[in-house]
Amino acid sequence: MTVYDILSKKRDGKKITDEEIKYMITGICDGSIADYQASAFLMACFIQGLDEEETVSLTKAMAYSGDTIDLSAFSHTADKHSTGGVGDKTTFIAAPAAAACGCTVAKMSGRGLGHTGGTIDKMESVPGTRTSLDNSEFFANVKKHGIALAGQTGNLVPADKKLYALRDVTATVNSLPLIASSIMSKKLAAGAQTIVLDVKTGSGAFMKTFEDSKALAEMMTKIGNMAGRNTRAVISNMDEPLGRYIGNSLEVIEAVEVLKGNVKGALYDISVCLAANMVSLSFGTEYGDSVKIIEKAISSGKAYEKFAELIASQGGDISYLDNTDKLRRSPVIKVVTANRDGYIFSMDCEKVGMSACELGAGRKKKEDNIDFGAGIVLCAKVGDKVHKGDEIAYLYSSEENKAIEGEKIFGSAVRISDIAPEKKDIILDII
Ligand code: URA
Repeated sequence: MTVYDILSKKRDGKKITDEEIKYMITGICDGSIADYQASAFLMACFIQGLDEEETVSLTKAMAYSGDTIDLSAFSHTADKHSTGGVGDKTTFIAAPAAAACGCTVAKMSGRGLGHTGGTIDKMESVPGTRTSLDNSEFFANVKKHGIALAGQTGNLVPADKKLYALRDVTATVNSLPLIASSIMSKKLAAGAQTIVLDVKTGSGAFMKTFEDSKALAEMMTKIGNMAGRNTRAVISNMDEPLGRYIGNSLEVIEAVEVLKGNVKGALYDISVCLAANMVSLSFGTEYGDSVKIIEKAISSGKAYEKFAELIASQGGDISYLDNTDKLRRSPVIKVVTANRDGYIFSMDCEKVGMSACELGAGRKKKEDNIDFGAGIVLCAKVGDKVHKGDEIAYLYSSEENKAIEGEKIFGSAVRISDIAPEKKDIILDII
């Protein structure tokens, strides 16, 4: 077996074997296969595609390319994962709500890059919160609190680190089998028995159409179930930002408001759906009953208490949650107003995310610092009727020039029209 033979086989659209895929992943990780060969492999997979069997082989080879987390000492372990969106703070609601109902949530999350935010950055916006936990502290917290949320540490799925970095610079990110194997390899390595996937669809998602999102959801659930994990995917609308707050401390504020029972709507609905699926798959309860269990955990304050317990267990100052006015909002504020009467017809979600990034809420390069208080608060959502001069959004930044740039991008994202758009549900399908 040679790398050259495997590359030419895939280039010509032939099926490659489990053994050949393992050989490629091993070589990519130990450095014996050069980056230019790995890049050629990715491009061949991107163009020719991988069938189901090849995708499963790639996922397994990646999942076991490094360390894995053994959660077998815990019961009812449940994880959730979002394919990435704008204003997506569901982890802060669904994870503690599920933990408050008996699930064990030992969760690894990522940082934001580009137009989408990352849970770990958002969590660090609560002063004192540590997201780098060594193995013993991570497991001790899971045991004591039933929940821990940390950045990926150690040598977990090195194949994905290597391949994702290459995909990012070789225009090979947007491929169904490569996305499915990237996400599911990390979920399998992270060890939970139940995996609930939130597959976003629309202008702010990797997958822009419902059909592509459904195909991705079906592939990922198949991989998870074949690996012996209880896996379910929810397809949710990402044609506009989720909720009204975008940015790190701003998103914590909104999540806390939902947990305190003060905010309902799309963010509440999708968070309840994800948490209910975690409970339903973990305990075998009916989905409808699981929804009621989660709603009770929120209305009784137990989900909020669990979130505060999580933050406190990782060093965070929970007085910032009890009184979210203490959380940072950056001082330079621009108010965006409607330039005409009409309906908010669309809000290009990727552009809104890019605007938040420009304001300081995200990174353009890995080494950039985040301005925790930067971001956007939406006063109007898609479908709302507005009059000329009505406030559509508040933009927060720490620098005037960033605020001006962010405002330009935000302005180009919003379309006002004479006709009202068709209203889309937040939950489009469950697979
Ligand atoms: N998220 C991932 O972890 N991997 C992808 O390829 C896309 C989104």
